[in-house]
Amino acid sequence: MKTKAAVMYEAKQPLVVEELDLEGPKEGEVLIKYTASGICHSDYSVVHGVLGGRSPMVLGHEGAGVIAEVGPGVTSLKAGDHVIAVLTPSCGECWMCKEGKHYMCSQMGKLMATGRTLSGEFRFSKGGKPIYHMAGLGTFSEYAVIQAGSAIKVLDNAPLDTVCLIGCGVTTGVGAAVNTAKVHKGSSVAVIGCGGVGLSIIQGARINGATTIIAVDPMPEKRALAMRMGATHGVDPFAPEGPIKQVKALTGGHGVHYAFEALGRVDTIEQTWSMIRAAGRAIIVGMPDQKSKIKLSMTGVFGEKRIKGSGYGSSSPKRDIPRFVDWYLSGELKLDEMITKRIKLENINQAFDEMGRGEGARSVIVY
Ligand SMILES: NC(=O)c1ccc[n+]([C@@H]2O[C@H](COP(=O)([O-])OP(=O)(O)OC[C@H]3O[C@@H](n4cnc5c(N)ncnc54)[C@H](O)[C@@H]3O)[C@@H](O)[C@H]2O)c1
Ligand SMILES: [Zn+2]
Ligand SMILES: [Zn+2]
Repeated sequence: MKTKAAVMYEAKQPLVVEELDLEGPKEGEVLIKYTASGICHSDYSVVHGVLGGRSPMVLGHEGAGVIAEVGPGVTSLKAGDHVIAVLTPSCGECWMCKEGKHYMCSQMGKLMATGRTLSGEFRFSKGGKPIYHMAGLGTFSEYAVIQAGSAIKVLDNAPLDTVCLIGCGVTTGVGAAVNTAKVHKGSSVAVIGCGGVGLSIIQGARINGATTIIAVDPMPEKRALAMRMGATHGVDPFAPEGPIKQVKALTGGHGVHYAFEALGRVDTIEQTWSMIRAAGRAIIVGMPDQKSKIKLSMTGVFGEKRIKGSGYGSSSPKRDIPRFVDWYLSGELKLDEMITKRIKLENINQAFDEMGRGEGARSVIVY
């Protein structure tokens, strides 16, 4: 069959929106018709060569849609099911899944690293030439073939062009607060970078009962949006005092219990270490070039400060995706407010330019 998709032929070049050939689902796979896809900074980082990616590739990894067809052996889903596509198939069988670390399912690693199906094949092609797909999902295409385990069924009344954000940014951010950090009631939190991921961390911190939530972002509109999501204070990191002094001043000079980095830069990752109090935790969610090195001062090491990475919000997709959808439907999780624009696939390059300038929280492609 044919599908319309946005393809990265070369890093640092605009994506090309064009018609591709798509092979149907094989053993253990499903054909999904995406309703919508959010645009995450990780897509931007692949386009800009910060995170590795193969070319040509259909990008996109934050989608939701409807199952159009199931492949042989798939019993968990049927045509017509509404689903959120997730980063990890969470196979339940691999060494990571057996330890309960579903968010690090080794199948995800394979899908991410190869840009192919688990069997090492391709489903997208153009003129007979194979095309990779990001994270086994390729949500910048109207149709895609994905692992059945990468599709989590959701309630039919969940609006797919909104809950698609749960596919990556929301699960990553809310999960970082409630699963990775386990933010405690009455605690203080700072979040550096208030895009889709940072705003979700703020919401997770609010839901878990943090009482001081400091949003650090240079864009005044991002800080204002963060306040609507539950932040209690906004800090402009480019103000003369700098972000560390400002965060400390808001926490009695001690620093916060938890500082999250949700931007993906070495300097801001280093800032989290200086923002936390003794016995505090720095949680790194943003993804810089994986070869970069960070420098941390020994000051604080014996004050039992800790630093921890957070991958996909330490989530267990089968448990967390339906629970985050419930939180949205009950009004606890605000997703509509995070969507700045709904756009057509054809406008994807413009949306990337806006992301580069720090404008808007999330743009969502609607098919
Ligand atoms: N760990 C994971 O599993 C995971 C999953 C998804 C995304 N990510 C990463 O999370 C990061 C954030 O993604 P996003 O989609 O929310 O990005 P985004 O582009 O939507 O948001 C980034 C925000 O940072 C702000 N910013 C810019 N400079 C700043 C500074 N000096 N100090 C503070 N804020 C600043 C921008 O104004 C913007 O609001 C990216 O690095 C992405 O790759 C990680
Ligand atoms: Zn993402
Ligand atoms: Zn697994």
